[in-house]
Amino acid sequence: MGDSRGVIEFDGVTKVYPGATAPSVDRLTMRIEAGEICALVGPSGSGKTTAMRMVNRLIEPTSGTIRIDGVDTRSIDVETLRRSIGYVIQQVGLFPHRSVLDNVGTVPRLLGWDESRIAARSRELLDLVGLDPSKFGMRYPAQLSGGQRQRVGVARALAADPPVMLMDEPFGAIDPLVREQIQDEFLRMQQDVRKTIIIVTHDLDEAMRMGDKVAVLQEGGVLAQLATPEQLLAAPANDFVQRFVGGDAALRRLALAKVHDLPLIPLDVAHAQGFGVMVDQQAQPVQWANGTPVRARIAIDATLRTALGELIATGESFAPVIDGMGRPVGIVTTALLHGWLDRPVAQSIDQHAAAGVDWHGPAQHGYAPPMQAQPMRFGSSRG
Ligand SMILES: Nc1ncnc2c1ncn2[C@@H]1O[C@H](COP(=O)(O)OP(=O)(O)OP(=O)(O)O)[C@@H](O)[C@H]1O
Ligand SMILES: [Mg+2]
Repeated sequence: MGDSRGVIEFDGVTKVYPGATAPSVDRLTMRIEAGEICALVGPSGSGKTTAMRMVNRLIEPTSGTIRIDGVDTRSIDVETLRRSIGYVIQQVGLFPHRSVLDNVGTVPRLLGWDESRIAARSRELLDLVGLDPSKFGMRYPAQLSGGQRQRVGVARALAADPPVMLMDEPFGAIDPLVREQIQDEFLRMQQDVRKTIIIVTHDLDEAMRMGDKVAVLQEGGVLAQLATPEQLLAAPANDFVQRFVGGDAALRRLALAKVHDLPLIPLDVAHAQGFGVMVDQQAQPVQWANGTPVRARIAIDATLRTALGELIATGESFAPVIDGMGRPVGIVTTALLHGWLDRPVAQSIDQHAAAGVDWHGPAQHGYAPPMQAQPMRFGSSRG
């Protein structure tokens, strides 16, 4: 049977900061099983850090209850509570004037362990996080790389063998390649130590990789979904989660391309289709052929992401693309943006070059810019 220590329960937990008009965490109810990693994700300001810090009472809930192994954390002496919870923050917070070994031994020392036991434990933990104690033990934090410091931070958080670990963007400062390596090492370590871990991250990939569960918070500190990574992708609970998990990759891709990369609908074609754009005396687009005002104008050198944002913000499904003088040079449509995302993309640069993929060649791929005969608006019942 597994160790059942470290079950964390949020039961209707709300935090309203003094002077705030709205909660930062709103009636959060969720249960994290012993030995599980729960990744807490959500937009900036959605209450991730607040939710996490209420577990070790660095922040006191306004209402609701947090229990660890069934015990209300308010009934536990706060110092005792904190020593039973490992805490890793992004800036690591190592003591600069203490050696690596002394840093790792901080909590055991506070707990009054004898020195030989502290030393043995600290060396064991450095080994566990992949740092050779004889090589790194006597160094000072400034003599380590960012990734090495992060490992020392993890070792320190594990020192007193707490059942629960809280990690706030622990790998955020580490460059992407090293980050993946440290994530993998951390997961390997977790197989041995089986802590109950809450990890806050901005990085959805990290959440998907690390989390047994992923908790998605939305604005106002409302839990939108608690699910396995697979469930989250396959069955997002609401539009917010759908956008959060699904929209991100697409948007990242759109940010890499410019409007002039699209096969814009030429103005004469648009005119022939009945949705030509009318210009004023300065040659600026002002209205459509049917008299509807032009609401969005998109710069030819804008990113596709910006273009999409413009279309969404104005509720349009197409817009004139303008040059540096503000003159229309073509029409961009949401369908063109979809076409961009749907176009064949090779898996790597080498294959791309070898396959000679050219999206602009409609003959090769049967792609033709979609045409629309009538101006349409998002969410409009007008067909
Ligand atoms: N000490 C505080 N006093 C008042 N409001 C606060 C305080 N700390 C955080 N907030 C507010 O509570 C909300 C949630 O903040 P929190 O730090 O928990 O967000 P977060 O999800 O961790 O964001 P980020 O991803 O940017 O770190 C925000 O609107 C923030 O401005
Ligand atoms: Mg935060």
